[in-house]
Amino acid sequence: MPAALDRKYLWHPFTPTDAWLAADYEPTVIVSGDGSWLVDERGRRYLDGNSSIWTNVVGHRNASVSAAIKAQLDRIAHSSFLGLTNELAPVLGKRLVELADSDGLTRCFFSDDGATAMEAALKITHQFFAQNGQPRRTKFVSLSAGYHGDTVGAMSVGHSRLFHHCYRQMLFESDEVMSPYCYRCPFNKAKPRRADARSYARCGRECVAAVEQKFAADGERVAAWVIEPRVQGAAGFIMHPDGWLAETCAVAQRHGALVILDEVMTGFGRAGAMFAWQKEAVSPDLVALAKGLTGGYLPLAATLSTEKIFNGFRGDTGRTFFHGHSYTGNQLGCAAALATLDILQSAGCADRQRRLAAAFAAAHERFWSLSAVGDVRQEGGVLAVELVKNAADREPFDPSLRVGARVCAAAKEHGLLTRPAGDVLLLMPPYTTTEEEVELMVGALCRAIGEVV
Ligand SMILES: Cc1ncc(COP(=O)(O)O)c(C=O)c1O
Repeated sequence: MPAALDRKYLWHPFTPTDAWLAADYEPTVIVSGDGSWLVDERGRRYLDGNSSIWTNVVGHRNASVSAAIKAQLDRIAHSSFLGLTNELAPVLGKRLVELADSDGLTRCFFSDDGATAMEAALKITHQFFAQNGQPRRTKFVSLSAGYHGDTVGAMSVGHSRLFHHCYRQMLFESDEVMSPYCYRCPFNKAKPRRADARSYARCGRECVAAVEQKFAADGERVAAWVIEPRVQGAAGFIMHPDGWLAETCAVAQRHGALVILDEVMTGFGRAGAMFAWQKEAVSPDLVALAKGLTGGYLPLAATLSTEKIFNGFRGDTGRTFFHGHSYTGNQLGCAAALATLDILQSAGCADRQRRLAAAFAAAHERFWSLSAVGDVRQEGGVLAVELVKNAADREPFDPSLRVGARVCAAAKEHGLLTRPAGDVLLLMPPYTTTEEEVELMVGALCRAIGEVV
């Protein structure tokens, strides 16, 4: 019944319409979840291999997050944040600023999801320079294939041909520089090996030079350097070589530009640190947070900012940040986020994260034993496997074959739900995932690769 109604009345994100409506396609109707598992209306159980699109960090039906939301419901669900505050949002703001643990970040602006957190960061940047004596700083520089969400500003600093080409005329211009994608880098002279390409790349760090050149050319016009720190998700789980983030952020800040970090996917412990930028010596000016912020339970996002930027909006009314959302500072979301942070900051959680990362590391060899695997890369609890037609020369499959999507469809038959980025497969489950569950996920994915390729 829900599937029939869905097909008649709904429209799904990032879902090809004809395939969804095809007579022989049976939509999966999820009715419940528990830990790392999702259950459909027929009682079939699936491992949530991508944390319900990268959101869930504490497992489904976590008792304390659920209890926090229920308790908050008994007080109030939502009240406006325009000219009012509430009991929870300031406490959450303080916790986020403390977690960021950066000298610079002192303020928190709430919104609803990853794209809106980025949109706020971009508009804050533009207005900050416009009203503080540097109106010529209007350019944004961001990474090839970068993805920051689907609102118009967030798309403008994104460079995904597939997702964005149709909207080019409605987007503002932003400059693109090469992504530090060691496996597919044209400057990497190393022959492919059965190892993470970052570990054996031979190059002159042209990816840093490209950023230096961009800023040398017109650094005084650049408002911000915008990046997904250390891991570019939708671009294909591109993992950056150590040091690249710190070096390029230093270049941008030396030229007077702000650094905007998009931690929407990498934040809250996903990539082996509470925030990915904390693995390097970086002091961001603005940071976008969403997804894992509420444990994956409710839509809530935050943009962290420095006091200097915040102060740039003080003065007469005309300097106000005229931007916001009806559900800003939503109490239910804040309650979920505070309960999530309690879990993430507990000693047991760090141990679970380490065990998850170790279980993934132990699985690399299984993937390397498959001839269609060209690269296996990992940052903390994010494991990516890039499939290729010919590993000896990194030749990709013809995109029209949709190999990644077909492997994920086959994995579903083996009890694993995940979505690829092109031909890059992903495992990024909640931190509650056990070693046995990792084993099941890896087994399902390896079988599916064997069946499809
Ligand atoms: C790095 C990054 N930024 C922004 C977004 C957009 O987040 P949302 O889908 O919550 O708007 C995403 C979503 O996947 C993302 O991965």
